[in-house]
Amino acid sequence: MSIFEQRESEIRGYCRVYPVVFKSASNARQTDEDGNQYIDFFAGAGVLNFGHNNARMKQAMIDYLQEDGVTHSLDMHTTAKASFMQHFTDTILEPRNMPHKMQFIGPTGTNAVEAALKLARRVTARHDIVAFHHGFHGMTLGSLACTANQYFRGAAGVPLNHVSHHAFGCEPECEGCELGCGEQSLQRLRQQYEDSSSGVLPPAAFIVETIQAEGGVNVANKQWLQGVQQLARDFGALFIVDDIQVGMGRTGSFFSFDDLDIDPDIICLAKGIGGMGTPMALNLIKPEYDKLWSPGEHTGTFRGQGLSFVAGDVALEYFDDDTLMQQVKQKTARIMQKLTPLSQQPGIQVRGKGMIVGVDLGDGDKAKTVVNQCFKKGLLVGACGTGGRVIKVIPPLTIPDDDLDQGLNILYAAVNEVMQ
Ligand SMILES: Cc1ncc(COP(=O)(O)O)c(C=O)c1O
Repeated sequence: MSIFEQRESEIRGYCRVYPVVFKSASNARQTDEDGNQYIDFFAGAGVLNFGHNNARMKQAMIDYLQEDGVTHSLDMHTTAKASFMQHFTDTILEPRNMPHKMQFIGPTGTNAVEAALKLARRVTARHDIVAFHHGFHGMTLGSLACTANQYFRGAAGVPLNHVSHHAFGCEPECEGCELGCGEQSLQRLRQQYEDSSSGVLPPAAFIVETIQAEGGVNVANKQWLQGVQQLARDFGALFIVDDIQVGMGRTGSFFSFDDLDIDPDIICLAKGIGGMGTPMALNLIKPEYDKLWSPGEHTGTFRGQGLSFVAGDVALEYFDDDTLMQQVKQKTARIMQKLTPLSQQPGIQVRGKGMIVGVDLGDGDKAKTVVNQCFKKGLLVGACGTGGRVIKVIPPLTIPDDDLDQGLNILYAAVNEVMQ
């Protein structure tokens, strides 16, 4: 029995799907202890947007360590933090005329969501949050209350209160639904908020993913998202976009919503923002709301780490010009060209935006078999969505074309074989 089976908690998950011991990794490939290589279409679920051991980030981190740069500072000022913040301001915020303040929180996505919810409740003096079916926002109690999946919710051990879940406005709309169920849910909420006898009060915030990643790669339609924002504005609620998995260039632009004409009050970022897999989480908050925080009120030991600032700073260089984003567009076309024909088979849907693509097989057991077959052929790919029925393709944005093609061929063959 390995040390993992002997001593690691039963909670372990992904290591059961990929039962090898990984030893090294470079860009879109991981190598196990026996020297077997795997193409990585999973990329830490949106953490490794710039690949494993990105050479530029690695060198910057080595230099920083050799200079005795500050690796831990709570939220004290450091040179690395100043450099990251200035770069983020110059490259991401100012070109978009975004006045948002940056709040660094504990380094996981769930921390970002917790802080966003707290602030929205503070701003509005309301308790309730509107979240959406199939949404995923994290595992701590506040964010878990916003997460829809019952398997995760069931582990809470306490009631998950003060959040209601409503139909998400996906693209394309569900078949047989004339107006669109997401649109209908917004209309229903509006009527309830307008009716002083409905018994329903407007919430503190609406929290939404523009693409539900864990929820099955459901892409929100632009009009619906604008409708959510409008509802928030009309009834004094905050509009929170959780861009934790699909931000940082995943869709061909820094934010997943850059082409959607929306203006969120709070944007939650984590995962890829630390550059090389070094953890960081960051909320972008409109100043009029941010000013309601009191110093240290939402604290945490790891609020921005030196090495994450260094690697994250290098990651921002990918957004100083549009070379990588153009490559993302080309690679997106390559992925869709290979995978779209699968949707001609009955029961299969292929959907996505940029370099997050879901192949919905409509059946969790079949998807599991595809994942296992891919693994045996040297491809790491994960399943998501209800019952794990959607294969999620989310490779590093920097994946070489040869690796991309090889991985797509493995996936295509596995789906064809299993769905026959
Ligand atoms: C959209 C979204 N929000 C929040 C989270 C939670 O992030 P973390 O696991 O770092 O707490 C995730 C994680 O997958 C996510 O995809």
